[in-house]
Amino acid sequence: MDAELEKVGVVGVGWVGLVSATCFAELGHEIVALDVNEEKVEALRRGEVTIHEPGLAELLKTNAERITFTTSMDDVLASARLLFCCVDTPPTYSGDADLSRVRSVVEQLPEGSDHALVMKSTVPSGTGASIRRGKPDLPYISCPEFLKEGSAIQDFMHPDRVVIGADADAEKAADAVERLYAPLGGEIVRTDVASAEMIKLASNAFLATKISFINEIANVCEQTGADVTEVARGMGLDERIGASFLQAGIGYGGSCFPKDVSALKQLAGNSGYHFQLLNAVIEVNELQKRRVIAKLEKHLGSLADKRVALLGLAFKPDTDDMREASSLVLSARLQGEGAEVVAYDPVAEGTASAMLPDVHMAGSATEALHGADAAVLVTEWPEFSELDWASVRESMNTPILIDGRNYLDPEMIRAAGLVYEGIGRQDAKNGEG
Ligand code: UGA
Repeated sequence: MDAELEKVGVVGVGWVGLVSATCFAELGHEIVALDVNEEKVEALRRGEVTIHEPGLAELLKTNAERITFTTSMDDVLASARLLFCCVDTPPTYSGDADLSRVRSVVEQLPEGSDHALVMKSTVPSGTGASIRRGKPDLPYISCPEFLKEGSAIQDFMHPDRVVIGADADAEKAADAVERLYAPLGGEIVRTDVASAEMIKLASNAFLATKISFINEIANVCEQTGADVTEVARGMGLDERIGASFLQAGIGYGGSCFPKDVSALKQLAGNSGYHFQLLNAVIEVNELQKRRVIAKLEKHLGSLADKRVALLGLAFKPDTDDMREASSLVLSARLQGEGAEVVAYDPVAEGTASAMLPDVHMAGSATEALHGADAAVLVTEWPEFSELDWASVRESMNTPILIDGRNYLDPEMIRAAGLVYEGIGRQDAKNGEG
């Protein structure tokens, strides 16, 4: 299969599909990219990118002539042999991944053709085997994606590793996928389909575990007087542990960790194994989102009729993604306590307003903070570290700041006259501020 001489097919131009299509085009490949959403395809043809991903709009523009957007599977099948499946697999109510969009893609692949399906969508271990039972002749590759929102282009262009899972009869297609990724220089992990699928789920579940672990350490630090940022620094220097994903805060969110941890737990359960650790990871994360309420009450007493400003709403900076964002739980809890919630996010206001209809959206951080009884930093947008905190202090009703991401320098905030409390930082124990 000389895939490098042909167009690369990308099916589903959500976040993963669009980033992959654009980056493959940047590597010099011709791309045919399909989405069932006609409006989205029309917008992309006009060069409009509707998701917020740094650098994506610019890169799409410079590679526009190499990417054909279409709503027709026939267009894709006619010009590409290697089809990257990038449709989404949202969680169902039971926590399983919803594979209906994946199945619909598979159904459209003609029997006996020489097309190969490269699965980028996150699917439970065993999905490849089940697809191949229905289509035994289909060369099937599992090639999970490890991109992070907000740094997806950088992650695509400089991967730590590229996992390519294929069974013996799909080796040719796997070689073609390997050639596509080879210029990027990351270590190529060739393995079987089931293991490739598990590498993806296990990686996300492990990272989520790391976060819930450091969050519990933070909670213990608040009891003992240790500072979790110091603890994480000291732990992270051990190469076996590593420094990344040891930032304590008010819980992980996004479209991946919550979904994949549940999917792995469910997958284990379905196969008769009770994955105890993952239950705790999920529970700790849910509780972590709520701990801020107790911190606010410690300073303010009852939250009824108190005005609380949320700085940031997106599940992390550099994205407008609100899926499973900690701000959703936090604002609901605050409103449940009778507080008035005002929020500011530099890019997520559009996606957030529909999900948070009773939250007043401010046009700037200073507007949100004006007259507030307390502020909670929810998302570590860089602009929050550049605020004139002395002026903020003057404009707030009571100058209390809960730093839900341990993002700001406590000394700087205290020097500006505010009461500062982070997550698992020394001040939290005594509430000295
Ligand atoms: C995550 C993985 O990091 C990617 O490798 C993977 O490809 C992706 O899921 C996916 O499966 O598609 P993403 O959800 O974009 O990427 O975001 P992360 O940067 O991993 O952050 C997830 C959440 O964890 C955020 O809410 C963040 O605030 C939180 N987090 C992260 C912490 O609370 N502490 C940390 O130390 C790191």
